[in-house]
Amino acid sequence: MKHVAAAAIALFLIIHSPSQTDARILKNSPSTLVDSVCKNALNYSDCVSALESDPQTPSASDLKALAKIAFAIAVTNTTNGKDYIAKMAKDSSTATSLVPALKQCVSDYESAVVSFDSAKVELDEDVMSANYDAKAAGDSAVSCETSLNSTRLDVPSVRARNYYVNLFTSNWPSASLVDDVCKKSDTTYGDCVSTLESDPRTRTASDLRSLARIVLETAHANTTKSKEHFEILAKSSMTAPDLMAALKKCIFGYDRAAALFSSSRMKIDLDITAASYDAIAAHAGALFCAYQYNSTTRIDVQTIRARNIYLESYATIAFVIINQLGG
Ligand SMILES: *[C@@H]1O[C@H](CO)[C@@H](O)[C@H](O)[C@H]1NC(C)=O
Ligand SMILES: *[C@@H]1O[C@H](CO)[C@@H](O)[C@H](O)[C@H]1NC(C)=O
Ligand SMILES: *[C@@H]1O[C@H](CO)[C@@H](O)[C@H](O)[C@H]1NC(C)=O
Ligand SMILES: *[C@@H]1O[C@H](CO)[C@@H](O)[C@H](O)[C@H]1NC(C)=O
Ligand SMILES: *[C@@H]1O[C@H](CO)[C@@H](O)[C@H](O)[C@H]1NC(C)=O
Repeated sequence: MKHVAAAAIALFLIIHSPSQTDARILKNSPSTLVDSVCKNALNYSDCVSALESDPQTPSASDLKALAKIAFAIAVTNTTNGKDYIAKMAKDSSTATSLVPALKQCVSDYESAVVSFDSAKVELDEDVMSANYDAKAAGDSAVSCETSLNSTRLDVPSVRARNYYVNLFTSNWPSASLVDDVCKKSDTTYGDCVSTLESDPRTRTASDLRSLARIVLETAHANTTKSKEHFEILAKSSMTAPDLMAALKKCIFGYDRAAALFSSSRMKIDLDITAASYDAIAAHAGALFCAYQYNSTTRIDVQTIRARNIYLESYATIAFVIINQLGG
């Protein structure tokens, strides 16, 4: 099977060329995961520091595990916030006109704690429900803020806590889709996550079908760019003559692969089987390119190898997504 052959070649390349580029692409680093989760959060840098404050974060091996840590942090943080506001409501130095609003906030925070707790549990069962719960927690923070605003008294300390309630409330489905897909893909998990997350549109995907379209469009664009890079190399007088034959094969292979990604995208709504066949067949573009430079070990060859790894990742990831669409 082509798929297996390609995987074998990828393994061959990984073992035989531990170049810096390959090592970077293939490393399953926790910071890639933190990065992916925090791209879904209200504020990226506050999300990163919140997650990194948890000692379990470095050992989290996938997006779902990190999302659970994020919701656990939100439960603790919101519980602390609730206790703080409850104390303020009972404090004799608090303006009496503020007390009803603070009591409302305590009840909003109680709901938010329940919502985050439920979101954490739902991550394993139904990510749309988890997302719904997280958004409900955000609504509770808005409700608290509305009550505070109606008093016309500014309470910055409560406002700051509302902000933290909102930190982890936005768009989780894309993180979960990426997690599902990357666990089924035979590329390295971290490599798969960073390939998908390198396209900002991934975060807007709420279902597999839209994720498939995004991946195939990105794969087409990325493969076309690589083909153009090979064309420039082939025309350059700086390029070693013995690389020309290899570059011609690479140009042909990448041209074909780009066309296959594009035709796969057009077939998604018409014929899932044909669409998945086109996606996996795009692998062959990398094979075609790889066999030719096998004997050479120079630096320009390593950049071709890195591009082949991207092409193979895109083909594998698109194949996994489309297959899941087919059920
Ligand atoms: C995110 O938080 C940081 C630090 O609290 C702040 O400097 C930055 O302006 C915030 N970014 C946005 C988009 O709110
Ligand atoms: C909530 O989390 C933020 C970020 O980790 C932290 O700065 C803040 O002190 C926490 N607040 C409470 C009440 O736990
Ligand atoms: C509360 O008031 C602030 C400051 O005027 C405003 O930015 C915010 O949108 C208001 N929030 C709500 C929920 O009405
Ligand atoms: C192709 O994709 C890889 C991995 O996502 C990325 O690092 C690279 O910059 C992309 N190349 C182009 C030309 O978009
Ligand atoms: C590379 O070339 C060697 C000998 O020339 C051959 O045995 C090997 O199968 C080739 N590998 C690939 C991946 O083309």
